Amino acid sequence: MKLLHIDSSVLGPHSVSRQVSAAIVDRLRQATPSLDIVYRDLTQTPLAHLSGSHLAAAQGAPAPAELAPDLAASAAVLNEFLDADVVVIGAPMYNFTIPSQLKAWIDRVLIAGKTFKYGAAGPEGLAGGKRVIVAISRGGYYGAETPYAAGEHLETYLRWVFGFIGITSLEFIPADGIQIGPNHREKALAGALEAATSLRAA
Ligand SMILES: Cc1cc2nc3c(=O)[nH]c(=O)nc-3n(C[C@H](O)[C@H](O)[C@H](O)COP(=O)(O)O)c2cc1C
Repeated sequence: MKLLHIDSSVLGPHSVSRQVSAAIVDRLRQATPSLDIVYRDLTQTPLAHLSGSHLAAAQGAPAPAELAPDLAASAAVLNEFLDADVVVIGAPMYNFTIPSQLKAWIDRVLIAGKTFKYGAAGPEGLAGGKRVIVAISRGGYYGAETPYAAGEHLETYLRWVFGFIGITSLEFIPADGIQIGPNHREKALAGALEAATSLRAA
């Protein structure tokens, strides 16, 4: 069984989402020691933003030589995702949504003909059968009862993206209120780490 672990926080060891995504992977590894784990750090090894040359290359046009390493990374990223049975993602909220590093990864994974297609009945996800677990960390609170609910474009966006490509096994472990104060941060992190240890086995 293959697990793909992705982090996207720029805060290194101070990151909440990195601590929680690591705890999720630890929990799944303990339950299934034979797990084959691939790790991708999107801030250590960022993917470029899509360009016209990327799209032309995808249509079979010759690509500029300087794009070759990034096109190779693109293929690697897509294959890692397609090969994975379980995907664990650390996703902090930056300016109300995912970090641009994670968006660049999504741009390499949502590929027509690979992870979705348009048929007579509209869009159809092709990536079903995977389990996706997302550790999200937010500075504030965005629950439905709060005045900030309409500004939540992290979890809602990821739910849409993974639903679009056919993922039905989608779990979120949130750590909220991280910037409200040290007590909030400590409590949110402890709760998220506890939730990670209680996950069902891979
Ligand atoms: C550049 C930046 C933008 C942020 N934007 C928001 C935001 O829009 N809303 C929010 O609630 N918190 C925001 N925060 C706070 C983070 O969501 C919070 O610190 C979270 O723990 C970040 O996850 P990380 O610790 O894994 O990096 C922002 C933090 C940074 C560094």
